[in-house]
Amino acid sequence: ALKDNTIIIVLGASGDLAKKKTYPALFGLYRMGFLPRDVKIVGYARTKMDDAEYHKRITSYLKVPEDDQDGQARIQEFKSFTFYVSGGYEDGPSFEKLNSFLLDIESKYQSKQAHRLFYLALPPSVFIPVAQHLKEQCYSTTGKNRIIVEKPFGKDLDSCRVLLSSLKQHWSEDETFRIDHYLGKEMVKNILVLRFANIAMSAPWDKNSISNVQITFKEPFGTEGRGGYFDEFGIIRDILQNHLLQVLSILTMERPVSFSAEDIRDEKVKVLRAIPPIERSDTLLGQYVAANGKPGYLDDDTVPPNSVCPTYAATTLWIHNPRWEGVPFILKAGKALNEAKVEVRIQFKDVTQGIFKDISRNELVIRIQPSEAVYLKLNTKTPGLNTRAIPTEMDLTYKRRFTEAKIPEAYEALILDALRGDHSNFVRDDELDVAWKIFTPILHWIDGKSGPSPKPVPYPYGSRGPKELESFIGKYGYKRTVPE
Ligand code: BG6
Repeated sequence: ALKDNTIIIVLGASGDLAKKKTYPALFGLYRMGFLPRDVKIVGYARTKMDDAEYHKRITSYLKVPEDDQDGQARIQEFKSFTFYVSGGYEDGPSFEKLNSFLLDIESKYQSKQAHRLFYLALPPSVFIPVAQHLKEQCYSTTGKNRIIVEKPFGKDLDSCRVLLSSLKQHWSEDETFRIDHYLGKEMVKNILVLRFANIAMSAPWDKNSISNVQITFKEPFGTEGRGGYFDEFGIIRDILQNHLLQVLSILTMERPVSFSAEDIRDEKVKVLRAIPPIERSDTLLGQYVAANGKPGYLDDDTVPPNSVCPTYAATTLWIHNPRWEGVPFILKAGKALNEAKVEVRIQFKDVTQGIFKDISRNELVIRIQPSEAVYLKLNTKTPGLNTRAIPTEMDLTYKRRFTEAKIPEAYEALILDALRGDHSNFVRDDELDVAWKIFTPILHWIDGKSGPSPKPVPYPYGSRGPKELESFIGKYGYKRTVPE
């Protein structure tokens, strides 16, 4: 672990990711006492500014209320060890300058050994030159070096392979930490414990008991201002191929031999390899249109006119192994919907008919956000002098059960893991390869590389998604709870 004498270098320090996630997470870790002793943080970006201007920006990123005196004091401390260096992403001399800056800081450390953690909060177009320059000009010769990279990891199987192999020329797998921030979320991490620490969960966890599974991502806002990026990628690359597929692999993998990073990831890769590429007929695509006073996707100035980019997708995946054969896994994600919610919904099969009629199925719901919860829908006898069954819930809502707990932000958990050198919650190269194999054919179809692109169905901004959704999930055997 990088416990002391560490510099964290944030490349792309003035960008959106650094502002929304990286700096708040670094500050959160600092407040909780989890940053290495003597840590220094160096922001790097093209914008020319001095430390004072940079400190002003950081303060605005951290969003600590004015009246939080402790928080304000901690910001002052935080600023005292953060610095800024400006420079280009593709020229050697800029990185030479960065390196001299780092050496200068390190010369003041007591120990000769100093570590560097590079965080690339950068657009994909500069990943490769930056990774190369960092290796050539800024690689610490006295301590450990680590590099954190963020998606997009390519646009399809081929481009991902090119990107990975270019990065590998400079950085070993052991030094590389590929973020999928869903792996840092508390409830995603909880899946392993729920499954493998409870016989009551692991026993019915297969095709004999489970009818269908839905993994759902809903966001109540559109692409507002981010349309340029989004249109190039679409909802499948933005959410399904990475975040939701990661959740799926943890839900369905076999029990790992241990909780070591390699044992866990071996099992994830194994189950993903049993999933064939998605069929067009198992796919529903949508695009939001203006409604409720909100603009449609095509009304966004940064989106090309007539774009057929999907902002909503539901796709069904099948796992060909003895545990899961025949169980549909429906991944669905959409922008500009009626609510913010990410959840896993596991629907069990019908009980044997005969003694009960019209009885609801059991469902286990893992709510990832907001308001973390696990609840199980159970049928219970209606209390009183009758024997009718009534659908109820066994409810583990975190806010009620763990009243004191502070649930960490995904980025806090992941940056800490990277400092500790734990790869369990980072994406291994072969995981990406199989993930792209599953999604590449359907993406090429959508991109118009195998005939005309499909036209997404319209859905109103603020709605539950395309009206076709109900029959889509019905087709895979999902049954609504019987109304009381
Ligand atoms: C990002 C996507 O990876 O995840 C965004 O690019 C999306 O489009 C975000 O909004 C959602 O993350 P979270 O943590 O808010 O669920």
